[in-house]
Amino acid sequence: MKTTYKRSWAEPYKMKMVELLRMTTRAQRLKAIREAGFNTFLLRSEDVYIDLLTDSGTSAMSDHQWAGMMLGDEAYAGSRNFYHLEKSVQDHYGYKYLIPTHQGRGAEHILSKILIRPGDVIPGNMYFTTTRLHQELAGGTFVDVIIEEAHDPQSLHPFKGNVDLDKLEKLIRQHGSERIPYVCIATNVNMAGGQPISMENLRELRALTQKHGIRIIHDMTRVAENAYFIQQREPEFAHTPIREIVKEICSYTDGATMSAKKDALVNIGGFLATNEWDVFEEARNMVVVYEGLHTYGGLAGRDMEAMAIGIKESLDDNHIHARVGQIEYLGHKMEEFEIPVVHPIGGHGIFVDARRFLPHLSQDEFPAQTLAAEVYLDSGVRTMERGIVSAGRKPDGQHYYPKLELVRFTVPRRVYTQAHMDVIAESAAAVLKRRNRIKGLKMVYEPKYLRFFQARFERL
Ligand code: F0G
Repeated sequence: MKTTYKRSWAEPYKMKMVELLRMTTRAQRLKAIREAGFNTFLLRSEDVYIDLLTDSGTSAMSDHQWAGMMLGDEAYAGSRNFYHLEKSVQDHYGYKYLIPTHQGRGAEHILSKILIRPGDVIPGNMYFTTTRLHQELAGGTFVDVIIEEAHDPQSLHPFKGNVDLDKLEKLIRQHGSERIPYVCIATNVNMAGGQPISMENLRELRALTQKHGIRIIHDMTRVAENAYFIQQREPEFAHTPIREIVKEICSYTDGATMSAKKDALVNIGGFLATNEWDVFEEARNMVVVYEGLHTYGGLAGRDMEAMAIGIKESLDDNHIHARVGQIEYLGHKMEEFEIPVVHPIGGHGIFVDARRFLPHLSQDEFPAQTLAAEVYLDSGVRTMERGIVSAGRKPDGQHYYPKLELVRFTVPRRVYTQAHMDVIAESAAAVLKRRNRIKGLKMVYEPKYLRFFQARFERL
């Protein structure tokens, strides 16, 4: 029989430096995870083999970016690299005014303080931990207006990041547009599993919010990955370059917060961008108080240079195809092992459904936290809980009980190989095999804010 092979894709780069990893034994890992209170955030990175905790700040920079690091203009004011970054943001994203910040949450902090008044309501396509907390600390209340399918890990909807426009319209009617300073739109919704919003939905959202005079603020942390899905799934964009899709997405929004540690391929950095002079003026004032002068915002000149270059590299079609292609490879491998993953496969990692993986655990026994600890124990692969622990407590002290109880296998950009992906899937499969013997956890220490970072657990 004649066999036909589908041609493989491969990474559009090669390696010229490697970082050696320490291999551990199971006994060493058991000791490490116990000492970490069964929280993968509290592990030492030296005890980790493949680190899928996050795609944040963990990318491998290119030789051009490293060369840019040597061009840092470390002047206190008016650094050359700031102007390069400003131009990069204007050219590639189309926003007029730029305020650099040390990372994404620095921008969220300043923006929330400027735009939100106590009692305001901020609709968004699912919450993100730091984003929502800054909205709440400014006196606002976040309201989720993402489509219902986003909360269903098995729904095959191609754009689970879409806004439910009826929900939003009802909310506007209920509160009045003067109580809604902006709608917060994330491209590639992190907590939904790296799921995109469609251009069609964005256009309709823009029409609706314009009618009511409400801004759209764009959490553009993973905008390039969202653009990839638009290119793949919306026929109108099948032949449009990623950079053009990204620019069109941004054009429907009034400003943005960016954690450049993700799509923009840097280890640290972020920004606030806006098209409104008044907002810019106030932000420029405030950044001096909380981050640093408005031409560095907590960053070294060299970091701004690496970001300016990283933004450009992130919008290359070959880059983004390999990036998401690797994640799809991992996802399909896991499916072969019958591991319950969130569908469709997302843009920055594989999200495993811990409810289905460990059906004998109740949500109060922290199934996702448990699964993340077990995968580490099996192979030294570090993942992250994205379930009840991450969701935290409501302002009234009650737990949020999110529908999604997930473990995120987040893949850093340009860092790991296909063989690493195989090892990861095999490890998850090994844990699946002995899942019936796995017991849950109880929380023994809980910090006040963003508890998932520092909470400690013990085995039940
Ligand atoms: N918005 C989104 C969608 C994010 O994923 C993050 C960070 C931020 C804002 C905050 O940016 O970390 O630069 O302050 N997400 C990381 C993660 C931490 O692992 O998902 P930051």
